[in-house]
Amino acid sequence: MALLNILCYPDPRLHTVAKPVKEIKTETLTLIENMIETMYESNGIGLAATQVDVHERIIVMDVSDERDSPMVLINPEIIWAHPDRVKGEEGCLSVPNTYDSVERAIEVKVKALDKSGTLQEIHATDLLAVCIQHEMDHLLGKVFVDYLSPLKRNRIKTKMHKLQREVNH
Ligand code: NI
Repeated sequence: MALLNILCYPDPRLHTVAKPVKEIKTETLTLIENMIETMYESNGIGLAATQVDVHERIIVMDVSDERDSPMVLINPEIIWAHPDRVKGEEGCLSVPNTYDSVERAIEVKVKALDKSGTLQEIHATDLLAVCIQHEMDHLLGKVFVDYLSPLKRNRIKTKMHKLQREVNH
């Protein structure tokens, strides 16, 4: 297994639209294992392939307290979303140390393939529902800060540029 490099906002590659996985190959499974390891190592609850610069519709998540229940969603599709929406604080491994309020459907039903290629249907509520919507946005090239006002977004961009300068020098 290997840790993967996570793209940092405002890296333009984060706005790439991911393509469906046509076939689950050995490389796909290796990527998934590495994504799970990277997510745990970074203390994240979800990671989309887009964030590691692989533009295929794959997400991994683990919202359990024990951090021992990784979920893998390949080619996920939201088949139903609850009409009620709620605002909650979100963060993202691609936008370190930044949290802001985003509105999401309180419940969603998603169908996706698991890593063995079996179709699964997930009825997600609470944190899992938020996480799925956040990660699926990544596959469409959308980062949660895209929901914020231009003023807030510019502040975050400035902060990220500063952070990256500090890292690089
Ligand atoms: Ni994210």
